[in-house]
Amino acid sequence: MKTVVVTGIMGQLGWELERSAPGWARLVGVDLPETDITRADHVERLFSENRPDVILNAAAYTAVDRAEQEPEAAYRVNRDAVRLLAENCARFGAHLVHVSTDFVFDGTGSRPYRPEDPPNPLGVYGASKRAGEEAVLEVLGAGSTIVRTAWLYSSHGANFVKTMLRLFEDRDEVRVVADQVGTPTWAANLANFLWSLVGRSSVPPGIFHFTDAGVASWYDFAVAVEEETRPRRLRPVSVRPIRTEEYPTPARRPPYSVLDKHAAWALWGRRPEHWREALRRMLQELFP
Ligand SMILES: NC(=O)c1ccc[n+]([C@@H]2O[C@H](COP(=O)([O-])OP(=O)(O)OC[C@H]3O[C@@H](n4cnc5c(N)ncnc54)[C@H](OP(=O)(O)O)[C@@H]3O)[C@@H](O)[C@H]2O)c1
Repeated sequence: MKTVVVTGIMGQLGWELERSAPGWARLVGVDLPETDITRADHVERLFSENRPDVILNAAAYTAVDRAEQEPEAAYRVNRDAVRLLAENCARFGAHLVHVSTDFVFDGTGSRPYRPEDPPNPLGVYGASKRAGEEAVLEVLGAGSTIVRTAWLYSSHGANFVKTMLRLFEDRDEVRVVADQVGTPTWAANLANFLWSLVGRSSVPPGIFHFTDAGVASWYDFAVAVEEETRPRRLRPVSVRPIRTEEYPTPARRPPYSVLDKHAAWALWGRRPEHWREALRRMLQELFP
């Protein structure tokens, strides 16, 4: 048995990790308010009471636009708390698997981002997540594992798929940006990959990129959600492509954030699932 502490257990990824926990894992899932990872006393108690072999940090401040108005809150969770976790890993001899984001890149590239490509976040959220990665590397050096992912959705929690489904209920037309490209990723597949890493006799260190397979714009993603759920609706909804300028948001987002997943997929040893297939499976779960 390995004792694995998962922070952010109530979030999308945490929930998927919990329901897919393998038999060899003694899972300790924690979240706010009982365990606030920004509190040194909470983090120390978490380690001393559970003596984890691995700590999987799925907790984060994930409100990308709100972060522009409250950067301190974003940095407290995404940088300072991550440093606390790393320091306690060093002290208690636990392995840290930290989850990060495609938003550490500026998205001006035109080929999938490799783990070693230079980060250059565009907004507060991305910058705070990059600062968290730096804290992990500073405290634990190359002995830690950082997994960057992108465009997460799940049947649990708030995400793009849920937003589209809500809009499709009461609108005839939905406008969605078509000039931001990435890979929608079912958090269930990411959870599965993370368990495969943690289940190894020693967790592979380094920075890994993991998403589902394929590439899409937010517009393509919305069209797919509409098509897959059309039989449930009495009338069709028109999904119209727009440019980013036509849907201004407080935070700038990377126009191209496809990640190069070769190393992670090779480790995983499973056939990566195309995002459209993963979406279909998630929707079957939502509407059995
Ligand atoms: N969602 C995406 O599209 C996406 C894309 C790329 C990378 N990621 C990364 O993937 C990871 C998982 O994301 P997710 O979508 O599962 O996020 P999520 O649904 O927002 O879940 C995050 C969880 O962390 C909790 N949390 C926040 N502050 C905390 C604190 N101080 N102490 C303890 N727990 C705290 C949240 O609680 P509250 O809800 O109460 O705040 C929530 O339960 C994050 O590292 C995120 O940066 C996400």
